Amino acid sequence: MSNNLFHTQALSKYGDKRGSLVVAEFGIGCPFPIHRVYWLFGTVAGVSRGFHAHVKTRQLAVCVSGACSLLMDDGHNRKTVRLDSPEKALLIEPMVWHEMHDFTPDSVLLVMADAPYEESDYIRDYDRFVQLMGKK
Ligand code: TYD
Repeated sequence: MSNNLFHTQALSKYGDKRGSLVVAEFGIGCPFPIHRVYWLFGTVAGVSRGFHAHVKTRQLAVCVSGACSLLMDDGHNRKTVRLDSPEKALLIEPMVWHEMHDFTPDSVLLVMADAPYEESDYIRDYDRFVQLMGKK
């Protein structure tokens, strides 16, 4: 995987005089059928989260309010992506180490996943992650 895969994509936005509506649907902005959705909010100032990779789970992240940064690392390349618009989605593929930093106080980070929550899908040790990626 190359560094340039860590970029946001624009979701479909519908706006009229009433306001805006943004959609992520399987095949329309989201490349997988959505099984699970969770969101992070009320994140305490200065706190960072994540610090893991998933073995199989695919995720799509949208900061629907405020902003936060995702550090993305495939074991060879690292890039920090700022999510600062409800129209921007970031795909987090399996075996990508990710960390969430610099949440604004009003941030709501919505994450869509293609699989149920399973702790066995998490790699939480960075050295082990790098070792696994080095063997690819
Ligand atoms: P955690 O993995 O620490 O979150 P982050 O990666 O953002 O730092 O998850 C916090 C808690 O929430 C932990 O006890 C597991 C639980 N959890 C679920 O039960 N289901 C889920 O879908 C997720 C993402 C977390």
